[in-house]
Amino acid sequence: MPSKRSHGELSLKGQSGWRRIVSGVKVETGISGRNQKGIRNGIKQMAESAQEGNTPVSLETLQQMTFSFAPARVLCAGVQLGVFAHIADGNTTAQEIARAAEASERGMRMLLDALVACQLLTKLDGQYDVTPLAARYLVRGRPDYMGSMMEYDPLWEAWRHLTEVIRTGQPFRRVEERERAETFFPHLVRTLHISNREPARRAAHALGAGTPRRGLRVLDLACGSGVWGIAIAEADQEARLTAQDFPALLSLTREYVKRHGVEDRYEFLPGDLKEVDLGVTRYDLALLGNIVHSEGERASRDVLRRLYRALRPGGRVAIIDMVPSNDRTGPPFPVLFALNMLVNTEEGDTYTLAEYTQWLQEAGFARVETADIGSHSPLIIGCRD
Ligand SMILES: C[S@@+](CC[C@H](N)C(=O)[O-])C[C@H]1O[C@@H](n2cnc3c(N)ncnc32)[C@H](O)[C@@H]1O
Repeated sequence: MPSKRSHGELSLKGQSGWRRIVSGVKVETGISGRNQKGIRNGIKQMAESAQEGNTPVSLETLQQMTFSFAPARVLCAGVQLGVFAHIADGNTTAQEIARAAEASERGMRMLLDALVACQLLTKLDGQYDVTPLAARYLVRGRPDYMGSMMEYDPLWEAWRHLTEVIRTGQPFRRVEERERAETFFPHLVRTLHISNREPARRAAHALGAGTPRRGLRVLDLACGSGVWGIAIAEADQEARLTAQDFPALLSLTREYVKRHGVEDRYEFLPGDLKEVDLGVTRYDLALLGNIVHSEGERASRDVLRRLYRALRPGGRVAIIDMVPSNDRTGPPFPVLFALNMLVNTEEGDTYTLAEYTQWLQEAGFARVETADIGSHSPLIIGCRD
């Protein structure tokens, strides 16, 4: 059950959160035998030393870091070639899978063995099969398919330019600009919908949707698939929601809202969140899900001021994002994600709880609370008097 704390007594649970991510990495990228243990320990060591600053990184860890791109590329190639779907369709040998994927048999055999080493496939007597995790998330066409972003694969190219971006201070691209956003985000938000479904249910619970609060008027800003708002609509059967995003994204939101059977309680507000009229004393709750990091400080502080006006007395804004510790020494995911924003956006970054607290107070929010939603970072809640 999510626990709520009021600001002041908060210590980020980042380290244990990262440990959860580490065990996820172990499952997804583990290599057999000694190397598997080495990678697992290596990543854990990285995480711990980043977090505590007292565990030296070993030479083995350093070597593993230089090659840690390989499991990510193997996974992407597997998804792009439809390997998981071809196996689920009954192709089991390297020759059959290569034929189905219209790929070379030699290359396919190496890829399949690498996917076995990464524990996404199994191999017995030369026959490959998908693991339960891969069967659920990596077979194209299945309801929980998470491969959309891997098929599109835009991050690899941007990260290749990291050194140059740091040198010049100019991003490789600006995903927040409408035209690019409408191409880039549909792939991302389909993936986020799957990974955030459970945290969204826990967030709805932490926000009291349904019990004790009923009939909430909710604004889901930059809603993407609508995952956070849909969880509120499901928990509070009387809630009414406004979904806001660029027009092309809202077509996708409609698809998800319909799939979850909550379309009769939705309205849509298309446009750029920097410009749309958010109204005055209209909402009980505003959701900012994974948007502050790409908007950056200036635009986000402006949105928070406008949201304060858009909320009714007693209203709240809930922020879901990657939150590093106040001195930005960890956990690794929010700290690494800041660089993802550096290469992909004009002003994006990740922000600490101290920064969010200051911005929320400046915007007029009387209290700042946090809630553990079983994710890498806490839910941050700004409360209006
Ligand atoms: C990372 S996704 C997050 C989606 C969703 N809130 C979630 O957490 O899954 C960012 C979303 O913000 C939208 N977005 C980005 N910049 C925007 C802007 N300036 N105005 C409106 N929407 C924007 C994108 O189209 C995308 O749907």
